[in-house]
Order: sequence, then structure tokens, then C-alpha cells
Amino acid sequence: MVFFLFIPIILGCIIKKIFFPKTLKSIEDKHVVITGGSSGIGKSAAVLAAKQGAHVTIIARNQQNLNTAVTEIKQACTNTKQKIQSISLDVSDYKEVGEKLNDIEETVGPIYMLINCAGLAICGKLEDISNEDIQKLVHVNFLGTVYPTKAVVPKMKQRKEGIIVITASQAAMVGIFGLSAYSGSKFALRGFAEALDMELRHHNISVTVALPADTDTPGYETENKSKPVETAMISESGGLYDPNHVAKIILQDALEGNFFSYLGIEGFITSILCVGMSKCSSLLHLFLQAFLLGPFRIIACLYLASFNRTIKKCLTKEEKNK
Ligand SMILES: *[C@@H]1O[C@H](CO)[C@@H](O)[C@H](O)[C@H]1NC(C)=O
Ligand SMILES: *[C@@H]1O[C@H](CO)[C@@H](O)[C@H](O)[C@H]1NC(C)=O
Ligand SMILES: *[C@@H]1O[C@H](CO)[C@@H](O)[C@H](O)[C@H]1NC(C)=O
Repeated sequence: MVFFLFIPIILGCIIKKIFFPKTLKSIEDKHVVITGGSSGIGKSAAVLAAKQGAHVTIIARNQQNLNTAVTEIKQACTNTKQKIQSISLDVSDYKEVGEKLNDIEETVGPIYMLINCAGLAICGKLEDISNEDIQKLVHVNFLGTVYPTKAVVPKMKQRKEGIIVITASQAAMVGIFGLSAYSGSKFALRGFAEALDMELRHHNISVTVALPADTDTPGYETENKSKPVETAMISESGGLYDPNHVAKIILQDALEGNFFSYLGIEGFITSILCVGMSKCSSLLHLFLQAFLLGPFRIIACLYLASFNRTIKKCLTKEEKNK
């Protein structure tokens, strides 16, 4: 069994090496806009973009956090011509987003890359989450990605170049206990990205969906506080990633034009299992999907059965404690 898994991987890698050498797009001297850029994965991505010589605009709500981040990003610059600035706004307010992004294009330059990192995670069983929190998830995670994207797309189309990054989550591919509202808002992003990619492909604009697992960010700390015990038990095997590492992978995948950006063995398995009708990024990926989808489905069912047992155990314990 394991042997059969290795053959396609090795063959695929050889094919890739020979026929598809990596060609990374460059962001040197280009304008990169990052929402949620004052902390977590967004800030790490901003620092990396600055290191690669880009002009960077970060967007978040809190001006003080933005100022601190701008200082840090400026230190990563490689030349004195790079422009680093911030905009304080609420990404789920379309009017504000449209106006401010328009202004920044005029003062800094055309937006070549938009990295949507603004997002938040609130856990809890459906009946335990307030309606305000559910609305917040939809507004920030879904609309807060759709609106900035809508604001930049027309001009990217005119210029016939651009890169859009949509930061979803592994929970955009797999629904887990305690993440019903969060997963819903993130699954929506995957559908959005798939359709958008089809709209933009012929205009030389690439779309990348990032599927990070748990990452060690301020957002994760908040999320951790509201996490039901079942959710923690199910997701603990994934570990906690360093935001700098996650941002590096996302940036690389976006510059290579890959549709999915994932990391770790679980990310790889998920990307194969949940491939559906998404864009085929390379022959290697197609090859891997064709060979691994069946076996991975069996592995997935073993995982699901173990999650099922965990949830049942917690329920029994809860009922006993009543
Ligand atoms: C597509 O965009 C890239 C930069 O992202 C640019 O180098 C290339 O010339 C563009 N191709 C066309 C056909 O416009
Ligand atoms: C998450 O919360 C649990 C307890 O609720 C704690 O044991 C754990 O250390 C926390 N992890 C992080 C990364 O904050
Ligand atoms: C989950 O566990 C319950 C018993 O606790 C069982 O009836 C059910 O078939 C299991 N479902 C799956 C998908 O394993």
C-alpha cells in the first residue's frame, strides 16, 4: 500500500523537475496591499514582501498596531525607495475600502498584489455563539475579503496583471465540531476563490487560497479561549505553526501561481481529498490527486471515526456530570 503511494509521488516530482521548473513572479518595486497586516500572518507577509523589495500598504483597524507594524516592516526594507504605509479601516465597509484603496493607488502606485489576511476565529457550538459573533464572522471573514478584492480587480484587469491571495483556513475544507459558524464563513471563501479564479484567469490574474492550520498568532490566542474541549482534542494533532513560516509558504505559492497553499502533511492530505472542481495548478498536482484520492478517502474515514469517538466520549462525560 505505502509502496503504491510512493511511486506517483516520485514520478510526479521527476516530471515536475524536467517539464515545469519553478518560475516565481517578482514583487520587487511592485505595490503589495495586505489586509490584517498589523499582526499575525498578515504582518509576517508584509515583512517578507518588504524584504523582497515591494512597496507595502498594510490595512487594519487599530492605528496604534498599524504604526508599530509599519516600523517593523520598514526595518525589513532592502532599499530606500520602498514606500511603506498603513490605512486604518474596516474591511467589511465597502464604501470606505473602495475609496481608500483608490487613494493609495494614486499616491503609492498600482496595486499588483492583494493579500487578504483580515479574519477572525470564534469557536463554540452553534447554540453557544451569539448572533453578533456570527455576523462578525460573516462580515470580517467573508465580506472583508470580497470587498477589498472587488475594489482592486477592475484595475488589475485593465493592466492585465495581478495576484490575489485569499486566506481561508483548513476549516475551509473540513468542517469540525465547534467551528460551525467559522467553517461556514471560510467555506464561503473557497467557493468565492474558485469562481473568481475562473473569471480572472484569462486576464493574467492569479488567485491563491491559503489553507493554514492553527498558527501561533494573537488571533489564535483569542480563539483558544472559546474552544470547546472536543474541538481542542480533534485539532490538537495538527500542532501550532509559526506565522513567519506560514506567510513564507503563502507568498511562495502565490508567486508561483498555485491555487491552493497549504503546509504540513495534514494540509497536503486535505488539499488532495477536497480538491473537487478546483483549478488544476500543475501536472504534478493532477498526478498526485489522480493516484491518492482513493487511498486518502479511506484514511479520512479512519480519522472521522476517531473524531466521532472523541465527541461521543465528551458527550457521555458531560451527561454524567449533570
Ligand atoms: C502577466 O503578468 C506578469 C506579471 O504578473 C507579466 O510579467 C506578464 O508580462 C503578463 N503577461 C501578459 C500576457 O500580459
Ligand atoms: C489553549 O488553551 C488551553 C486551555 O484552555 C491551554 O492549555 C493551552 O496552553 C492554550 N494554548 C495556547 C497556544 O494558548
Ligand atoms: C459515530 O458513533 C456512533 C455511536 O457513538 C455511531 O452510531 C455512528 O455510526 C458513528 N458514525 C460514524 C460516521 O462513525
